[in-house]
Amino acid sequence: SRTAVVIPAAGRGVRLGPGAPKALRALNGTPMLIHAVRAMAESRAVSLVVVVAPPDGAAAVKTLLDDHALPERTDFLVVPGGESRQESVRAGLDALPPGFDIVLVHDAARPLVPVDTVDGVIEAVRDGAPAVVPALPLSDTVKQVEPAAEQDAPEPVVATPERARLRAVQTPQGFDRATLVRAHESVTGQVTDDAGMVEQLGLPVVCVPGHEEAFKVTRPLDLVLAEAVLARRRA
Ligand code: C5P
Repeated sequence: SRTAVVIPAAGRGVRLGPGAPKALRALNGTPMLIHAVRAMAESRAVSLVVVVAPPDGAAAVKTLLDDHALPERTDFLVVPGGESRQESVRAGLDALPPGFDIVLVHDAARPLVPVDTVDGVIEAVRDGAPAVVPALPLSDTVKQVEPAAEQDAPEPVVATPERARLRAVQTPQGFDRATLVRAHESVTGQVTDDAGMVEQLGLPVVCVPGHEEAFKVTRPLDLVLAEAVLARRRA
């Protein structure tokens, strides 16, 4: 069974500060999206990568991919994205040709995920799991709060889930294709990851080991960390 990857890269990246859409910002001189695409194409199991570009930026992203060296055994498609991450992933799924039974969804904002993590996710889907997420234990304790009406006002704590049973989930998340398509067709409301939609269908989702370097570049400090990781890899 062949594996395709959908990379939602249509986000604005507001939390990163003013500038280009997040996926197009450079890390050590190369756009984050290119790092992410290479990280996926590095897996020998991946034969197609669908990049979901900002709605008005599909042509620019196509040019970007053409201008960077990418593995020849992998095919690339670029489609325009939507208002939400969910809509963008959906646009990527709609563009998938037949013949790909396994689909990974990977944030462009996680440019440094190691290939072993990618392969681990694919292997777990091949072994029969309909949905697989790479995950790590938490170092911080997590509180559930009642959001305050006013900004910056103290927020009452409602609960403290047992930390040892919590996981922070990353991408790529891997799916049996039919399951992911069904999830996107039937789910309503806001979800922050694709596996969450599969849970809503009542189907099992499993965690496999994630990796520190698969962190999401969200805030300015994350850019500093990402460039330090790249520098260490080159050393
Ligand atoms: O906003 P967040 O960091 O959760 O975004 C995760 C990924 O989803 C990013 O790669 C971003 O480009 C993508 N995204 C998208 N379309 C949107 C919003 C986010 O493809 N409308």
